[in-house]
Amino acid sequence: MTEIETKLKTIFPDEAAIPEGARLKPLEQKEYLVGGRIKSWAGPRHEVLSPVCLAGKKGPERARLGSYPLMTQKEALEALDAAAAAYDEGRGLWPTLSVEARIAHMEEFIWRMKEKRAEIVNLLMWEIGKSSEDSAKEFDRTVEYIVDTINALKELDRNSSRLSVTQGIIAQIKRAPLGVVLCMGPYNYPLNETFTTLIPALLMGNTVVFKPPKYGVLLHRPLLEAFRDSFPKGVVNTLYGEGRKIIGPLMATGKVNVLAFIGSNKVADVLRQQHPAPHRLRCVLGLDAKNAGIVLPDADLDLAVSECVTGALSYNGQRCTALKILFVHRSVQSEFLEKLVRAIEGLKMGMPWEPKVKLTPLPEAEKPAYLAEVIADAKKHGAKVINEGGGLASASFVYPAVVYPVNAKMRLWHEEQFGPVVPVVPFSDVREPLKYVVDSNFGQQVSVFGRDTDAIAPMLDVLVNQVCRVNVNSQCQRGPDIFPFTGRKDSAEGTLSVSDALRAFSIRSLVAAKDSDANKKLIRRILRGRKSKFLSTDFIL
Ligand code: G3H
Repeated sequence: MTEIETKLKTIFPDEAAIPEGARLKPLEQKEYLVGGRIKSWAGPRHEVLSPVCLAGKKGPERARLGSYPLMTQKEALEALDAAAAAYDEGRGLWPTLSVEARIAHMEEFIWRMKEKRAEIVNLLMWEIGKSSEDSAKEFDRTVEYIVDTINALKELDRNSSRLSVTQGIIAQIKRAPLGVVLCMGPYNYPLNETFTTLIPALLMGNTVVFKPPKYGVLLHRPLLEAFRDSFPKGVVNTLYGEGRKIIGPLMATGKVNVLAFIGSNKVADVLRQQHPAPHRLRCVLGLDAKNAGIVLPDADLDLAVSECVTGALSYNGQRCTALKILFVHRSVQSEFLEKLVRAIEGLKMGMPWEPKVKLTPLPEAEKPAYLAEVIADAKKHGAKVINEGGGLASASFVYPAVVYPVNAKMRLWHEEQFGPVVPVVPFSDVREPLKYVVDSNFGQQVSVFGRDTDAIAPMLDVLVNQVCRVNVNSQCQRGPDIFPFTGRKDSAEGTLSVSDALRAFSIRSLVAAKDSDANKKLIRRILRGRKSKFLSTDFIL
């Protein structure tokens, strides 16, 4: 038996071996937030199973974490109506509140959210199998994101706190909310990515219905009271259940003004088409990606390997920004592959609570079988798994596979594997990987590894028009969050940096008047009497 096989046999612990601090009491969630009230659900509930299995007599079995409401169309529509009532066609308390007051509500929320850190981080770890270190990072990054968004909004508001006079027209131009936002984040960043749309949407004065992803639901439970107590009633409403059953009817009402969705482009298309007037629907979408890494002949191979390993295998490759295919120049392929395999051997596999663990179980029940399928398909078309134990699985755990040489006949060439499989393609001419990027349906990011400025510079000029971030000698990634995060083709719609997101969830609106004495007098009276929230030169300090 190989070392990996031996480790796999005992990778899942007995219940008794779970460290005290990581233990989790099942959370039976019956509550949902609608119209400012936390209601109790008496209907059927969904059983939540962890990617973490426990060793049992019959073999490893997913640990049960609790349950959450399987709401129906009726409750979904109730949540939507509550959000629509709170928005009240733009006349509600929240959309007409001053920016300063909205920020105060959000600051209260941050304070309440921070109190729940330990509970949320533990749930995050158990629900999606993310290491405790990365789960903590996700929480902290999210809090930081909220703080940065507040600062960006203050800046935006300061810049629009003055009136302008042009061609005989006095105007004040600001950004106004859009209406009801439906927020749905992905399972790989269930807290962070949900909040990267939810928070700017709220701060801009929209009201929200949010549905947590398929995995990563219970971790939102500790925040229900914080949402209820920090915002006016109906501003935040929660939905739980099967997306296919409850989201379609919401879209069909035409009452959703913004769809903020992070997931697959196929689902995004279906949702958009369900809206009776798609031209009225703004979409903010983070979708599929198949980011390529291109290793040039003169690359610093130690650096390239280290970035490719983190890029391809952080959180087991379950990141939209993950490097999902590597193109390596033939002149360095042997050395690169040898180093790559060695680096992967150095990654610690285990349970998410173990210090420094890098490889953990996968949340999607069907993922191990899918990964086995795409590996088998690659083998059928001439590739091999070149690392020992690559692709071996035990229940929800799959050991990373380096698959080589990959070609266009294979599914791994086209499909976003979203898991621990690293396809490697040898190339002789740099036009080959460039053609791959140009022909791809996806256009999020790319990484280029090399040292020759004359080789890299022209590549940059081609690649920036194909994707939305070209990383030089660095893995692909979203952060820092003040950088724009977006994609072309099937990869995204809208841009989500801290400041861009505020724009995505608002529209410019202005008050304008011909420059006459009567109008000046009127405007002056409104400003001095602080009679309007919009027409106001108040400056947030
Ligand atoms: O899943 C996609 C995430 O936005 C990636 O974010 O690059 O910070 O892991 P990250």
